[in-house]
Amino acid sequence: MDISIIGSGYVGLTAGTGLASKDHNVTCVDIDEEKVGKINNGEPPIYEEGLSELLEEVVSEGNLKASTNTIEAVKNSDVTFLSVGTPMQDEGSINLEYVKQAARDAGKALMEKEKYHLFVIKSTVVPKTTEEHIIPILEEETGKKVGEDFGVCMNPEFLREGTALDDFMNPDRIVIGEYDEKSGDVLEDIYSEFDTEILRTSLRAAELIKYASNSVLATKISFINEIGNLCKKLDIDVYEVADGIGLDERVNREFLNSGPGWGGSCFPKDVRALISFMEERNVESDVLESVVDSNEKQKTKIVELLEEEIDISGSHIAVLGLAFKPRTDDVRNSPAIDIIRELKEKNALVKAYDPQAMENMKEIHQSIEYADSASEAMKGAHAALIITHWDEFHDLTMEDLDLMENPLVIEGRKMDYEILEKHTKGISWP
Ligand code: UGA
Repeated sequence: MDISIIGSGYVGLTAGTGLASKDHNVTCVDIDEEKVGKINNGEPPIYEEGLSELLEEVVSEGNLKASTNTIEAVKNSDVTFLSVGTPMQDEGSINLEYVKQAARDAGKALMEKEKYHLFVIKSTVVPKTTEEHIIPILEEETGKKVGEDFGVCMNPEFLREGTALDDFMNPDRIVIGEYDEKSGDVLEDIYSEFDTEILRTSLRAAELIKYASNSVLATKISFINEIGNLCKKLDIDVYEVADGIGLDERVNREFLNSGPGWGGSCFPKDVRALISFMEERNVESDVLESVVDSNEKQKTKIVELLEEEIDISGSHIAVLGLAFKPRTDDVRNSPAIDIIRELKEKNALVKAYDPQAMENMKEIHQSIEYADSASEAMKGAHAALIITHWDEFHDLTMEDLDLMENPLVIEGRKMDYEILEKHTKGISWP
């Protein structure tokens, strides 16, 4: 099938590369010429595990190309995915401008086309957006009728940053929200080579599934963080508790690792957008509001723990891990931002280290020191806080502790430091 994808960010490019590897003929569209040039050279403009190899392969085989020309790309394809961003606005709701503009541009191209075309919304949009905003734009721009001349689907993405390609190629499920049966059939055909369950729903149910999925995952984490705070008081290992709960198939063990709170560009934006959407419709969102509040408090709980152990003012604190999760350089809504702010307010001397995310954190916190390694950050420190569970932080040794002024390590993520526990005042938290 000939496919055009508007928006070549991590969702669009990953989906495009994955579909091209299944022998579809894909054109990725973006307004950024530099990005388009890179993609055409087989180089992904973002880092995602495995993407570089697969992109190079599909570009050299001629199954994927990139372009800045939306009209040509849409005209020469049977199906168009819209996968541009829907960033958060001040009050928590989403900004639909980019997706509306993408629909306008794509619609214009269809005006000149005779054949049936399918539009697929992949951007995360609140329920009824496709029906109330996108379809009217498409009908207006094309002068054609949905259900007759073109079809529409809403196909949410569930890709995690860092493992997006693997998530795309091996999904737990594919959700197809459809305007009508014909639209759904065309999209299901595109995914025919993916070995997973395909769920077909209404357009608005598919839109809500995306928000509800991220919200339930955030809820699981906030819940286990709260249990973790209780465990700390009772000297119980919350990871053992999570293992016990997780064995129940109805719950499962995933997303029950407690820590200093969830972050990233998705959970905070999507949970807030759902709350704001519910508020506008006078639907109470007590659970989700608590999930967000609890997460805000959780982020700096580690500083409270530190304060129980040492006088923070004037102390040198090593902050290990700045990214919102391992294997990414992304610091958006990372708990480390709040933790460093709190430490600075308490007059600590902060020395931070992260294998990937230091450049990004430097844009947020300029006035702290950055180290070239965990050992360097720990040298002379009165305490070290582990915020992101990078693999390399599992390898801290007695020598690293010997470098510290006071060998106190507080684990924001469970690291299982058996040697350290025996020899230091390490606090296993959560
Ligand atoms: C999340 C979802 O997992 C994807 O399914 C979804 O497609 C994506 O948002 C999106 O909406 O685009 P992502 O933001 O990449 O993906 O990150 P996750 O791996 O889900 O982690 C989110 C946050 O939860 C991180 O801060 C992580 O450290 C935290 N987390 C995760 C925990 O604190 N404990 C856990 O057990 C799991």
